[in-house]
Amino acid sequence: MSLGPEESLLSDIESLANSLGEKFEEIRLIHDLTSKLQLEDDPTDTCQELLEQLDVCVHCRTLVIQLDPDEDDLFGGGVQGIGQSISLDELEAVIAACWNHHDESDFAVDHDRANQDVLIVNHGTAPELIGRHVALLPIARGEIHLGRLIAIRDHGHGEFGTVEVDLMRSVLMVLSLHLMNQRQFHEMQSMLEGTVRSLASALDAKDTYTHGHSSRVADLAVQLAIRMGLDHRTADSLQLAGILHDIGKIGIDDSVLKKPGRLTDEEFDQIKQHPVLGYEILKDIRPFRHILPAVRHHHESWDGKGYPDGLAGEEIPRDAQILAVADAFDAMISDRPYRKGMPLAKVQEIFRNGRGQQWAADVVDVLLASDDLMLAYANQQSDAIPNPIGLNRAHPPAVTNLGSGCHR
Ligand SMILES: [Fe+2]
Ligand SMILES: [Fe+2]
Repeated sequence: MSLGPEESLLSDIESLANSLGEKFEEIRLIHDLTSKLQLEDDPTDTCQELLEQLDVCVHCRTLVIQLDPDEDDLFGGGVQGIGQSISLDELEAVIAACWNHHDESDFAVDHDRANQDVLIVNHGTAPELIGRHVALLPIARGEIHLGRLIAIRDHGHGEFGTVEVDLMRSVLMVLSLHLMNQRQFHEMQSMLEGTVRSLASALDAKDTYTHGHSSRVADLAVQLAIRMGLDHRTADSLQLAGILHDIGKIGIDDSVLKKPGRLTDEEFDQIKQHPVLGYEILKDIRPFRHILPAVRHHHESWDGKGYPDGLAGEEIPRDAQILAVADAFDAMISDRPYRKGMPLAKVQEIFRNGRGQQWAADVVDVLLASDDLMLAYANQQSDAIPNPIGLNRAHPPAVTNLGSGCHR
C-alpha cells in the first residue's frame, strides 16, 4: 500500500528527526570526549574514558581497545576493555576469524589492507563468531596504525549497522588525533629534557668545582615548594630552573670561575654577570621562558642589595626567592676543593640572621623546619634526598669536590 503525500511527508520528517537525533548524540559524545582529553594523560586512561562513553551509545557485550606498541613504548601496546571480560587468546582468535571471514563480510574490505579497514561480521560461521556480531575498526592516522577497537555483541541484541559504525569511526578519529598529539608532545618533552641535560653537562664540564650543584639545588627547591604547599606546576618549573640557574657561568672566564680562594672585586663583578648571561642564553628557547625570572633573579636579596637588578622583597619573583634559599644552602653546606662545607649549625645560624634580610622569611622558615632535608644534604647522602618529580637527577651529589661560586 502506497503512502499518501501527507503520510509520506510525515515519514520523511520522522526519518530526518531520527537522523538528526543520531547526529546530535554523535556530536555530544565527541564534544564530551574532546573536552576531557589532556595531553599529559596516560593513554590507557584516555582509552578507558572513551570506552565508557562509547559503551553508553553502542551497548556491546564487550568493547576493547588494543593499542600497538610504538618505538618509544609510550603506549605500551596495552589492551583496555569494558563489559564482559575476554581473554587475550580468545580476542586474537575472534580477530583472526573476522579476517578469515572478510570475503563474506557485510562491508567491503580491501584484502591487502585488512588491518586498516573497518570489518563488520554480523553472521560469521567460524566457532569464534557463532552467536556474536563483531566489529573491528582501526585506530589510524594516515598510514600510521595505532591500534584497533573490537566491539562484540550477542545475537539478538542487534547487528552492527552504518550508524553505529559511523559513530565509532568518528570517536576513533578523535582518539587517533589525540594519540598522535600525545606522541608529538612526548617527543617534544624528551627533546627538551635532552637539551636541559646537554646544557647542564656543558656547565659541569666547564665548572668542575660546582659539579652536581645544579641538580641538588633543583631537588631542594622542589622540596621547599612542596612543603610550602605550592602546586605541581611551580615545582616542575623550579626543577628546570634549578638545573639551569647557573648556566650563565658558561660565559664566565675559566681563570675567574675556577680560581680557588678569594676573588678580587673585578673578578667578582665578572661572576655577577652569570644570571644575566643565563637569561640571555635561555631567552630565545620558548619552553624555557617560564623559568627566565628565576634564572635572572636568583641572586637578588630581600633587602634590595643583591644583583643583577637590585630587586627587593616581593619584587623578587617567587620562584627566584625559593631558588635563592636552595642555592645558598647548597653553596654553604657543600665541600670545595680548598675548604670544607660549613657545619649545619653554622648554616642554620646564617639563615636565621638573613631571614627577612637576604632571603624571604617564609621560605627560610620552611627550610629551617625541614630537619630531614637539611641533614640529608649536610651528610651528602644523595639517596636520602627525596626527588619527587624525578625529571633530572643527571648528576647525583658527589661526596667531595662540591661547592658553588654562588655564595661569593
Ligand atoms: Fe648563581
Ligand atoms: Fe648556584
